[in-house]
Amino acid sequence: MESQSVRETAKLLAGMAVPMSGVEENRGRPMLSTRALPIRAALLFVFTAAGLSVITWTLPVQAQAPQPTSPDIRELKALYQRPPARPIENKALVELGRLLFWEPRISASGKTACVTCHLPYLGWATTDDRSRSDSGRRTSRKSQTLIGIGHADGVPVGWDGRSATLEAQIKSSVGTGSMSMHNTDTPVKVEVIETRIREIPQYVEKFNAALPSTRINIDSIAAAIAAYERTMEPGPAPFDRWIAGDEVAISESAKRGFVLFNSKANCEACHSGWRLTNDSFHDIGTTTTDLGRGQQLKSVKAMQYAFKTPTLRSVALRPPYMHNASQMNLYDVVKHYEKGGIDRPSRSAEIFPLQLSEQDRFDLVAFMQTLTGMPEGESAPTLPGR
Ligand code: HEC
Ligand code: HEC
Repeated sequence: MESQSVRETAKLLAGMAVPMSGVEENRGRPMLSTRALPIRAALLFVFTAAGLSVITWTLPVQAQAPQPTSPDIRELKALYQRPPARPIENKALVELGRLLFWEPRISASGKTACVTCHLPYLGWATTDDRSRSDSGRRTSRKSQTLIGIGHADGVPVGWDGRSATLEAQIKSSVGTGSMSMHNTDTPVKVEVIETRIREIPQYVEKFNAALPSTRINIDSIAAAIAAYERTMEPGPAPFDRWIAGDEVAISESAKRGFVLFNSKANCEACHSGWRLTNDSFHDIGTTTTDLGRGQQLKSVKAMQYAFKTPTLRSVALRPPYMHNASQMNLYDVVKHYEKGGIDRPSRSAEIFPLQLSEQDRFDLVAFMQTLTGMPEGESAPTLPGR
């Protein structure tokens, strides 16, 4: 309860209406949210430092919104500090995985590679609302970004979390998914793909170096690609420079957007931490047709129409947005949250109508634009010949 009081204080100090919109109260649940403890802890520190007791929230405090350079913002910024890049355990395996990620010969037709739908310069995603699978059919959802995915160990993979690991996702993509022509008259067995790779001497050499005395098969192919995916660190962004102390790295509008993101707009309830995701699944009211995680977890109310919270790293590079590409640009995304999406029992308690001014909307968009890595991705490797 105490930490919730801190949260209230935070919102009051952040200029949130007192009391908050009647909408929330009418729904009979408190406006405060279950959120990352570190934020509460940091805010507690801030407000204690400011000489405020956690009891103040019961008083009709009509405080000013924190300015983008005030001390409490500095505390908030600490929560967005980047950790160092993940250490690379097996460099030869990563190098092999890089080739295989770009390698169309692991698809049935020999024409579709992972990179076909996960383009490095688009934040390892695409700007297509759907992609063409190897059989020419449209994928059922928009391709997902792979940025920073190595930092999401143990998180279910896919918009709906249907694969337990990166390795499992690769095996299903190649074996039965979008690279396999499985749903056509000319499916290609995974053994055929394995043989194709085994017959390329340069791959044999590279597998021997990376995984001595391991057979080239779908498991070792998946191990290599997954090792590579785990190295897809977000490119350094202006936001990172600002977090590190460069005050002119981002605009004043973006700084106001950052404050809104962490207060009135409630975005960091889910887009938390330096990757701007809680790696969790929520119904934010984007669809009536796709059950998302609910397909896997049929009896869990909150998982119906729930999708994985995407990282917002380099988000500006990859419109349209959401699993179904239902929002054309970042401004439209903000408008979606302002309305609160489709209201139904499964919708997250963290999603509720917001009251934003036009300036607020622009500020939120300006903030999200500072998350673009410069540069993002990398260029294509030269693939082994036959
Ligand atoms: C034809 C396009 C296409 C190809 C080819 C493709 N993907 Fe994807 N990828 C997608 C789509 C679409 C999704 C979202 C799937 C879903 O949840 O329905 C996705 C999701 C993912 C995810 C989940 C990300 C997350 O945060 O959960 C990973 C990882 C991934 N792909 C890696 C790969 C790898 C590795 C390959 C090559 C073996 C590959 N993809 C090939 C389109 C593609
Ligand atoms: C309850 C958790 C939650 C909250 C709160 C939340 N988001 Fe999201 N966000 C998600 C989920 C889940 C998705 C994916 C939904 C889908 O595909 O249907 C998403 C998608 C997005 C996307 C699209 C990214 C992409 O790659 O397609 C953007 C941009 C975004 N959110 C920004 C925001 C902003 C700005 C706020 C605050 C106004 C916010 N979010 C609040 C969970 C949340």
